[in-house]
Amino acid sequence: MSSRDKQNDTGIVRPPGNPKFWAADRVKRYDYCQSLISEQKEEMTRNIIRVVRYLCRIRSLSNPKVLDVGCGPGTPGTAAWQLLESIPNSRVFGVDSSHEMVDAANAALSAAYPGRFFGCVGDFNGSEFWAESIDLTYDFIVSSVALQYLGDERRRPFLTELYEHLTNGGAFVSSIAVSSAVPEVAEMTDHFAAEFLHQQLERERGPQDFEEVRKRRAEQNAKAGVNRLTSGEYIESLHAAGFQKADVVWHLWIKSIFVALK
Ligand SMILES: C[S@@+](CC[C@H](N)C(=O)[O-])C[C@H]1O[C@@H](n2cnc3c(N)ncnc32)[C@H](O)[C@@H]1O
Repeated sequence: MSSRDKQNDTGIVRPPGNPKFWAADRVKRYDYCQSLISEQKEEMTRNIIRVVRYLCRIRSLSNPKVLDVGCGPGTPGTAAWQLLESIPNSRVFGVDSSHEMVDAANAALSAAYPGRFFGCVGDFNGSEFWAESIDLTYDFIVSSVALQYLGDERRRPFLTELYEHLTNGGAFVSSIAVSSAVPEVAEMTDHFAAEFLHQQLERERGPQDFEEVRKRRAEQNAKAGVNRLTSGEYIESLHAAGFQKADVVWHLWIKSIFVALK
């Protein structure tokens, strides 16, 4: 149970995220949807890749094998696409709980990067996540804004499994939606996220009621099972999973990029 649950005294262990959230119509409009809800999404993804490239350089690794958890549809805004594009000899194994996402990623990336992308369906909230085709060791395990759907019960086991699936010297690099441990700051940053969405919707569709936008956003997040912990809680969980060296390297309002070294 996260300490915030304890603080709120709800006694609720958050359930795993809803893998059906990304229906086919949303997959088609994925980049557009992301541009509305996620401030500096592209910059954040570029920074995940920047960390991977840095670690490749200092380890003299030119052909990294990478697992991308919650890989999405393989559009240019995704980590999988950017990895394949910017590290020419990389191979990426993408896993997502949504069939629609995996089909779209396989279609886009297998055509553009033959023999370098392998997409498969898998739910990180289930213990059967490690299908034979991905039960390998990796130089990097990356994830871009997906692990906020990881339920409390699975968090430590799954992070431990990630640790075990990394080569010695490997790294886990992930952006995750987080929340501040300070309630006033959590409220402020959440307000900024709602403001961003409101601004984008007004730009696209004309005047919108801010409170209505904020309410709809909160409902969507609850429906999708978004589980926002504090950065401290993630780092504590990463340590417990075996990663002795873990920290936040980038942060903007409600998003952090974590790096954990094996
Ligand atoms: C916000 S999208 C991020 C997609 C992509 N990584 C990117 O860079 O844009 C979150 C992704 O996590 C996937 N996801 C949600 N819950 C999941 C689960 N339990 N197991 C695996 N993937 C999951 C969703 O289907 C979706 O593709």
